[in-house]
Amino acid sequence: MRNAIVLAAGKGTRMKSSLPKVMHKILGQPMIGHVITHLNEVHTDKNIMVIGHGAEIIQEYLKDQVLFAYQHEQKGTGHAVMQAIDQLDPNGDTVLLYGDCPCVQSETIEWLFESNKDFDLTVLTAFFFDPAKYGRIVRDKKLRIRKIVEYKDCSKAELNIKEINTGIYCFKNEKLIKYIKELSNNNAQNEYYVTDLVEIFLNHELRVQAISVKDNEEVMGVNDRQDLLNAQRWIQKRINTKWIENGVTFINPQGTYISLETTFEEDVVLYPNIYLEGKNHIARGTTILPGSFIINSKIGEESVIDACRITDSTVGNKVNIGPYAHLRGHTVIADGNRIGNFVEMKNAKIGKKTRCAHLTYIGDAEVGEDVNFGCGVVTVNYDGKNKFMTKIGDHAFIGSNVNLIAPIEVGNNAVVAAGSTIDENVPDNDMAIARQRQVNKPGLGLKYIQKK
Ligand code: UD1
Ligand code: CA
Repeated sequence: MRNAIVLAAGKGTRMKSSLPKVMHKILGQPMIGHVITHLNEVHTDKNIMVIGHGAEIIQEYLKDQVLFAYQHEQKGTGHAVMQAIDQLDPNGDTVLLYGDCPCVQSETIEWLFESNKDFDLTVLTAFFFDPAKYGRIVRDKKLRIRKIVEYKDCSKAELNIKEINTGIYCFKNEKLIKYIKELSNNNAQNEYYVTDLVEIFLNHELRVQAISVKDNEEVMGVNDRQDLLNAQRWIQKRINTKWIENGVTFINPQGTYISLETTFEEDVVLYPNIYLEGKNHIARGTTILPGSFIINSKIGEESVIDACRITDSTVGNKVNIGPYAHLRGHTVIADGNRIGNFVEMKNAKIGKKTRCAHLTYIGDAEVGEDVNFGCGVVTVNYDGKNKFMTKIGDHAFIGSNVNLIAPIEVGNNAVVAAGSTIDENVPDNDMAIARQRQVNKPGLGLKYIQKK
């Protein structure tokens, strides 16, 4: 059996925030989401997360993705692990991770499980030129790990040690369950340190090893907002490099922010100052221009997205959107559409080759193929209480400055004259004109102007 425990009960005082530390976001996803994403890439039978500070917020975010254990008072990492002990399988191995180490990759977790096959405890270490406040790894003359000493408990000599504890371990469940009871809080912080298990295990002549990670930065812990920024830079570089190697062109990758769960096909071109958050897919040959913010959406092939906000929506192939358009609320745009500046679409389904080039709101609507919207069309979908649908047939032509008061239907090949306010259905092939007749008063214009 393979188990994992993730510690996330601490407040994260050094973040100076009302949000629990592990909920601070990196590339649009809470730190703890990064940890779970990587954990999910490894096969485990059970993932247990220990929560305390801001438990409701973390639980609301992760829902049933993990099992939860509660640590009501934060009495240290060892005490946190004790809260999860009852949920562990009696046999097998447990990887222990800290929720504030968001960069740890699945390969490293897998490597730890494998390395612990013939051991009771494997500690993952790193070498830091400036080991700062990390716990120090103390080895004996034969270079075997002896103990981990927390920064605050270090002697002067120990402070000079460059090998640090990453906070990532693998335990044999049987031994962890048996010996965790021996932890005490007799130290500088009066906390139960999980790190003391190294000495306890060795005292019982169990097999303990320390192995070091290849890339130091992968194990950086996030304790303040500067660390958060450093972790973001590391993750951003890793994600962007992966896509550069897989056929995506970046104009300036430092300014392009892509979530873990966004995927691309070949020949996508990404300009800087764009944000792709959540789960997106961008198909072959599409270009995304600066100022775009795309969340949980799909974009088809050979489309151009120019400075747009697109949320929870789907865009087809060869669609040209923007600058400055906003799609949201499960909008679906079929192939070959043209959506221009200052157009908002919400919960709208738009057929192929429709054009909506300027200053328009389409909300709660089903629109056919080859429809033309003039400038400034509004679907009047809300009466202050309820939302209503607008339906527009194929090849319809909606003139400029038209209000369509929903619920309403405009038929196939129907034309609505500019400036009309429409509140009755327009049958197929008809033309609707709904505006006052114009009256011209001879000479009155000049008179009026001269008076001013
Ligand atoms: C810890 C390690 C240190 C290591 C460093 C690596 C201990 C005693 N020290 O120190 O050796 O170098 O991580 O980043 O383990 N937590 C709880 N409950 C608690 C206390 C902490 O859930 O009562 C959680 C925190 O939410 C956090 C993680 O455990 O996610 C680590 O706690 P933190 O206080 O940041 O430990 P460090 O001082 O960084
Ligand atoms: Ca920490």
